[in-house]
Amino acid sequence: MSRAGIGMIAALGLSTSIASAQESVEVLHWWTSGGEAKALQVLKKDLEDQGVSWNDMPVAGGGGEQAMTVLRARVTSGNAPTAVQMLGFDIKDWAGEGVLANLDELAAEEGWEDVVPEALKGFSKYDGHWIAAPVNVHSTNWVWANKAIFDELGLKQPTNWDELIAALDKIKEAGYTAVAHGGQAWQDATIFDAVVMATGGPDFYQASMIDTDPDALGSDTMKTVFDRMAQLRTYVDDNFSGRDWNLATAMVINKEAGVQFMGDWAKGEFLNAGKVPDTDFLCFRFPGTQDAVTFNSDQFVMFQVGEDRRDAQLKLASAVMSPSFQSAFNVVKGSVPARTDVPNDDFDACGKKGMAELAAANDKGTLFGSMAHGHSVPAGVKNAMYDVITAHFNGEYDSATAVEELVNAVESAQ
Ligand code: BGC
Repeated sequence: MSRAGIGMIAALGLSTSIASAQESVEVLHWWTSGGEAKALQVLKKDLEDQGVSWNDMPVAGGGGEQAMTVLRARVTSGNAPTAVQMLGFDIKDWAGEGVLANLDELAAEEGWEDVVPEALKGFSKYDGHWIAAPVNVHSTNWVWANKAIFDELGLKQPTNWDELIAALDKIKEAGYTAVAHGGQAWQDATIFDAVVMATGGPDFYQASMIDTDPDALGSDTMKTVFDRMAQLRTYVDDNFSGRDWNLATAMVINKEAGVQFMGDWAKGEFLNAGKVPDTDFLCFRFPGTQDAVTFNSDQFVMFQVGEDRRDAQLKLASAVMSPSFQSAFNVVKGSVPARTDVPNDDFDACGKKGMAELAAANDKGTLFGSMAHGHSVPAGVKNAMYDVITAHFNGEYDSATAVEELVNAVESAQ
């Protein structure tokens, strides 16, 4: 701008308002379903109230795989967004590349250290430095059920495998789709997380999904896991292939299907459709995993940006970490707060249950990172597991072959 131009703006007393109107954040995320978009609106509004405009970069695709591909292209071309929604081990990978911003000063000022649970800090910090602001904690071992169907058929919430199968049989016999599912690798893997936990318990989940112990991966228990996945496959409808997760949730909402096995972002869809927990839908842990929680946490990872974008970036990080945002956002999103000091008053029955079970699992040592959502192994190993799980779910391998393939695929990905 010319000197005369600057002089004119100053004379009109506009310099500060113009400077703040220009502040903006560009945020890459995969929150594109109705419930997700509504939750994100809470953050957009928070920032807009502070004069920071929101430059949206949505990349559809649950689990974030497509978003990560777009991100790679952006960073490679030297044009990183301000902040990126990211999961677990992907955060560590980016931190290792030395392209993330340092949030230590803000974290110290706002006391993040004391309120963010250790399980999340493992991903929000790298080499002792804060590089991300955790937005929430989701958990993946949930069942979302249509209450009218359960009432009509006199079904109780199943608590073990046999009861689950008996309930699914009844739903199928009554003419409904028993399991609403979308055949995408990350959705197959989300069910797999729960079946591993239900079949082998916490120690087996730790050995197979976190430690990738070949004995656990190649065990008879793992064969039972695959057998059970094949059994669940018989309860999905003919059109499941490629279906988005939120369309599967809609089948439960619309009384076309009995249950969906999905993380608690599904609750955001029920709420967005005006449905009420315990009245219209039920939320309970995948049968056999009542005492354990497999979690994932969405974090906003901050990339190194020029000085001109830094202030807005810090405002975004601070807004994400504020207790009032953590409550308002997670109430809508279906997740629970990433801080331990946020009251549960505004959460519905499923949210209160989620918060209590997360705290209990943390105390008992039964809180584990979700494999399907990037919190148990690095992306390479996760993708190797995805390939085998999906090929087996689609009938390309029998269970014995799937076990062998799993051991081999994980070994070569490490
Ligand atoms: C994310 C959730 C998101 C879900 C479906 C998960 O990986 O953690 O925030 O709602 O994918 O898009």
